[in-house]
Amino acid sequence: MPQNRKLLVTSALPYANGPIHIGHLVEYIQTDVWVRYQRLRGHSCTYVCADDTHGTPIMLKAEQEGVTPEALIGRVGQEHARDFADFAISFDYFGSTHCPENEKLAQDVYERSRRGGHITTRVVEQAFDPVKNLFLPDRFIKGTCPRCHSPDQYGDSCEVCGATYAPADLENPVSALSGVTPITKSSEHHFFRLADFASSLRAFTEAGSLQPEAANKLREWLDTGLTDWDISRDAPYFGFSIPGAPDKFFYVWLDAPIGYIATLWRLLNIRTGRALSLEQARAAWGEYEIHHFIGKDILYFHALFWPAMLEAAGLARPRAIHVHGFLTVNGKKMSKSRGTFITAREYLEHLPAEYLRYYLAAKLGSHIEDIDLNFDDFRARINADLVGKLVNIASRCAQLLTRFADGRLADQLPDMPLFHEFIAAGNAIGEHYERREYSRAVKLIMELADRANRYVDEARPWEMGRDPQKRMALRGICTQALNLFRILMAYLQPILPVTAARVATWLCAIDLTFESVHAPLVGHTIAPYEHLMRRIEDKDLAWIGAPANGASQARPKVAQAAAEEQAPAATTPASPTIGIADFSRVDLRVAAVVDAQLVEEADKLLRLTLDLGDGRPRIVFAGIRRAYDPQTLIGRHVICVANLAPRKMRFGVSEGMVLAAGDGQDIFLLGADAGARPGMQVR
Ligand code: 2FM
Ligand code: ZN
Repeated sequence: MPQNRKLLVTSALPYANGPIHIGHLVEYIQTDVWVRYQRLRGHSCTYVCADDTHGTPIMLKAEQEGVTPEALIGRVGQEHARDFADFAISFDYFGSTHCPENEKLAQDVYERSRRGGHITTRVVEQAFDPVKNLFLPDRFIKGTCPRCHSPDQYGDSCEVCGATYAPADLENPVSALSGVTPITKSSEHHFFRLADFASSLRAFTEAGSLQPEAANKLREWLDTGLTDWDISRDAPYFGFSIPGAPDKFFYVWLDAPIGYIATLWRLLNIRTGRALSLEQARAAWGEYEIHHFIGKDILYFHALFWPAMLEAAGLARPRAIHVHGFLTVNGKKMSKSRGTFITAREYLEHLPAEYLRYYLAAKLGSHIEDIDLNFDDFRARINADLVGKLVNIASRCAQLLTRFADGRLADQLPDMPLFHEFIAAGNAIGEHYERREYSRAVKLIMELADRANRYVDEARPWEMGRDPQKRMALRGICTQALNLFRILMAYLQPILPVTAARVATWLCAIDLTFESVHAPLVGHTIAPYEHLMRRIEDKDLAWIGAPANGASQARPKVAQAAAEEQAPAATTPASPTIGIADFSRVDLRVAAVVDAQLVEEADKLLRLTLDLGDGRPRIVFAGIRRAYDPQTLIGRHVICVANLAPRKMRFGVSEGMVLAAGDGQDIFLLGADAGARPGMQVR
């Protein structure tokens, strides 16, 4: 690695129409740990982010609240900034895509693309709400599912049976905004010709800028062929207008990533005290080694559209895009009805931010796998690692030192080889941070914490206090242990920056870095020890599992379960009576899930491979992704409709259907008791 890197780091821009939640925090914490590590090693590392403020949902939400979109995004922007600050996310600047710099840049990127021949127009037919005078995105059309006939389903998929379809397939479609039947209307749209960049995107894919899993995904997309990208939306739309195209606006995803450059531009204006020109901002972007951190759901946008736009506009491409998986809570997708949709603010009302930073870091690696936040494991880990191991070294030795040796550190360490062992470990720990293998860094640090505790346990300084002859020895042992603790805190500083700063002040050490701890801290008096961290008790977690609407109404888990039992089941009207012959036409079988995968570009579906005991694995697309982490399904028994005619879907052929209960809010797969075998008939 070069000595002085000039890094520019971004996290994905959160939408300005909802709160930051713990799912978002995986990314901001992952990025922030990397950023803090780079700064700690002396590199220049600028970290920017902004709210993603445009689009129909934000426009409609503002209308619903009776405020202007500007007022809505202003309020949400402040809430987001406060949440990030309280989680110690160290942005150099947190901006908004709704700023003049972004407008200039978006129009410039568009103009350059157009001049390069990469923009084309054509007429598109779309559902239109004649009352609201608005083209309707699929999400804003509702109707009866063409497959299971459940009412009130979205225009792209059914939440009850998981079917996916086009809005035109819905029975009795209505606009979710006005309740009227949409009409079909045509309008000219602007398209970005993504395929023009196919060969350079292939080169980008092979350039080592992506994790192997992400590069594989890109290869698949490139092999399938790239299609034109619709970058325009018709008025009314909250966004930036397209130059020379009256009543046309840029689709939110066009100006969102350009917001990275705009935010850098605004930051540089502040730093230099001047208003930089567009040309200067463009040039500044090219001076950095750029790293984007994103979630796997936006890989297509970020690794295809964004590099292509940058190239079309003659702007530098990122050095790397780092992709992470999703967060599940207790093995399942976060869910409002399960009470596991936890906002950043709710979490902070009950627990310290650094506990989540530590727990997530202890689970994060460089791969794209999902990570699970299990609250029992969370408590066990925080109590064992941070309180039981780490803080324990400091609290017992500092208190002994203050009580029996005036708080003054010895003039030299009794065990220099042990000290050097701790210093030497810094190289491997640093490498793990650099490669975003935080779980490995944490593992090494905790092994060192065990070693430090063993040192204290074996030396038994607490037995020496009463004997004046042994006070020198006590001072030496405590000095040694506190030095080891100080090294550990330096290594943990990217993850626990607030505690690390407190420790530095307490030990009267000016700073705490990988390098500064090479010189032992000896011969001076430390301040009296102040409590650093507390254990997590049952009561600290009692609020989890309460429904998320209205944080103040938090209820303990048990109470909630009881309340749920008493609640009436969802009230879909009963279907007409059928005879036994009708029922027996449905061939229901027990099936084992042999594989479960996410389906790219279908955020509702999982692709299940089922074993029905006949040696012929079946593929079934099930609309259960919202409720289940695919990994947790493998090996599980489900009930499958085995004689359903195969259905061709956008992603492949679905050869059956799995049964699940649902009330439109939540989904619960049906299974079979232990002992049932794949292929058994269900009657
Ligand atoms: O998916 C999202 O939440 C988007 N708001 C992310 C935008 S990131 C960037 F590319 F603009
Ligand atoms: Zn349905």
